[in-house]
Amino acid sequence: MIVLGIESSCDETGVAIYSGEKGLLAHQLYSQIALHAKYGGVVPELASRDHIRKLPLLVNAAVEEAGISLSDLNGVAFTRGPGLIGALMVAATYAQGLGLALNIPILGVNHMEAHLMAVMLEERKPSYPFVTLLVSGGHTQLVLVKAFGEYELLGESLDDAVGEAFDKTAKIMGLPYPGGPELAKLAENGDATRYDFPRPMLNRPGLEFSFSGIKTKALLTIESSTIEDYPDIAASFQAALIDTIIQKSLRALKQTHASELVVSGGVGANKHLRAELHRLSEERGFNVYFPRSEFCTDNGAMVAYLGYERLHRGESIQQVKLLARWPIDQVSNSKDSTGE
Ligand code: KG4
Ligand code: ZN
Repeated sequence: MIVLGIESSCDETGVAIYSGEKGLLAHQLYSQIALHAKYGGVVPELASRDHIRKLPLLVNAAVEEAGISLSDLNGVAFTRGPGLIGALMVAATYAQGLGLALNIPILGVNHMEAHLMAVMLEERKPSYPFVTLLVSGGHTQLVLVKAFGEYELLGESLDDAVGEAFDKTAKIMGLPYPGGPELAKLAENGDATRYDFPRPMLNRPGLEFSFSGIKTKALLTIESSTIEDYPDIAASFQAALIDTIIQKSLRALKQTHASELVVSGGVGANKHLRAELHRLSEERGFNVYFPRSEFCTDNGAMVAYLGYERLHRGESIQQVKLLARWPIDQVSNSKDSTGE
């Protein structure tokens, strides 16, 4: 079975083709970063229009890269939510049109589940059950993955997502959008021990996160500093965020008696997080898995792969019904997955 996957939930247009027999055949990505940079964040209306412009070109390029023709496709998957409704609509309507034209099934998939399963595109895969740390621009969650499609939410952020904390602090420092990777770059030349940022919620039991306090502390620190201090602030701030999500992940492994940890979502591309977890996994005897960095941030490959897994199990939809919010522990709810 060959599946086309389309991602358009935010500011990345991603298209990929996954074959059950041969694996990933093609992967095309167009980032709208330059378009939104001057506004300092994603402008939803501009995002939708740009997805419309780029999507057909990316589909053609993916089909060419895979060395197949459109008629070889056996299904189309698209991101159904969570995301910006106008942006989601672009992939959904395109998928619906293509499904009708080719007379093949289509399926809307959950964006966070796609992030969570992106690691399965790698040669080194985790075995079930495993704990996933999902860290993106909109979510910070710890999820116990018992089997394919069986997710238990262990804890999540009560306020900002960790990627959001990175982005907002970077913006205060005047770094270009999107700030997360820029702040991480600045931190490479900084002294992480110079500023003492709190490790929120670590002194309490449980697996919840909170990043609004540490963000305020960063704002106050930046306001009373000069630009020469920024690398040290960035390094200290990053160390506190990364330390917090790592400590909670270790706690989740202990609580669930799991020995496999997967990190997914945009912040999973962070080099400091990856290095620290590799070091700790050797020291403490657990296994850690990451998707390659380009599949941590938004992409079509994760949608094509998850779409394949669900379509080849016989799932499909008749009607498109998008969801701006769609909790990960409700992905297997039959009402949601059939769109009825
Ligand atoms: O998963 P993603 O591409 O989109 C969402 O679904 O949100 O995640 C984007 C988030 C942004 O907040 C971005 O700043 C952050 O991931 N991010 C990083 C890095 N690369 C992306 N944060 C820290 N370090 C990075 N290297
Ligand atoms: Zn994402």
